[in-house]
Amino acid sequence: MPQDSVPHGAGPEQREESAFLLACRRRPVPHTPVWFMRQAGRSLPEYREARAGIPMLEACARPDLVVEITMQPVRRYAVDAAIFFSDIVVPLKAIGIDLDIKPGVGPVIADPIRDAAAVDRLRPLETDDVPFVSEAVRALMGELGGTPLIGFAGGPFTLASYLIEGGPSKTHDRTKAMMYGEPELFARLLDRLADIAATYLKIQVEAGARAIQLFDSWVGGVGPEDYRTSVLPHSRKIFTALEPYDVPRIHFGVGTGELLGLMGEAGADVVGVDWRVPLDEAVLRVGPGKALQGNLDPAILFAPWDVIATRARDVLARGRTAEGHVFNLGHGVLPTTDPDMLARLTDFVHEESAAR
Ligand code: CP3
Repeated sequence: MPQDSVPHGAGPEQREESAFLLACRRRPVPHTPVWFMRQAGRSLPEYREARAGIPMLEACARPDLVVEITMQPVRRYAVDAAIFFSDIVVPLKAIGIDLDIKPGVGPVIADPIRDAAAVDRLRPLETDDVPFVSEAVRALMGELGGTPLIGFAGGPFTLASYLIEGGPSKTHDRTKAMMYGEPELFARLLDRLADIAATYLKIQVEAGARAIQLFDSWVGGVGPEDYRTSVLPHSRKIFTALEPYDVPRIHFGVGTGELLGLMGEAGADVVGVDWRVPLDEAVLRVGPGKALQGNLDPAILFAPWDVIATRARDVLARGRTAEGHVFNLGHGVLPTTDPDMLARLTDFVHEESAAR
């Protein structure tokens, strides 16, 4: 089993030294680790330059670009982890689903999945479907040094919503119509998506990723009872499949205040919290035995620095009530964010937390 194999020359000391991995494992840290969801992307001028004229999905399939874009925020900020540059729909594209990522819109599916025949056509993901992923992760191992790479996949509800709706949705009407009206079909779809996500994550971990994050971004639209019945079993299948690899498993969604305990129960080691629930309250909702990640409102970064600093200090103070805390935003970096603010925030989190 791969759990004891330290990939690509990173010695055991390096593994121990990563503040990010230590916090995920609820061990003492030299400082509170920090990374940012969507740290690679449109807020960086060097990203816009690297991507000029290259469609998003094409960029995701080019290891040279994936390595460059993953490294960009690591060069700029003293972040404690890198996130693999890809997208949650990459494995769906790889199994032959006709989809595109439209700039300013998001993933759009040509033939939405709405009946049993379409669900049954979804085939499993094989390693050979995404050779560029393993290649890019392996190349990143040579670039990152001691900075751990986080692999990721889309959660079953979020992927199902894109597939059923055919694109982004605020209300997820058709998705919920299937969840309520055709629960067996919905379960079959989520089960297949769980297998695809688990394989996609394993590929990244086997190539060297040292933590994984399951982004079920839009699952906050589901109430707790329906989450428990219709989503949790599929997320649990993913986390269980990753268990033998012994990498920290992070679980995040937006608007999931009422689901935090269940998202931990699904098998996450670290529960991601959006900006709506204060971290000390999230600690109570999640219960013992879990680390937390979050949760500064990404929009705070448009306020003056003293406001940002006060709010970041508050997040750190509340985070101290958790058994482990990974500092992050409550959702992704907004495209118009000033990168200098993120650089300053990263240093501030390190200095404030190391001083104690
Ligand atoms: O820096 C990172 O976090 C790594 C890269 C990353 C991307 N997508 C790159 C991307 C990650 C982790 C994702 C995950 C993702 N993709 C999620 C979950 C995270 C979240 O934000 O909740 C979701 C819901 C998607 C689906 C998706 N893909 C959306 C909503 C969009 C934005 C559409 C738009 O243009 O506003 C995308 C496209 C996308 N994925 C971009 C990037 C950098 C923008 C594409 C571009 O630069 O043209």
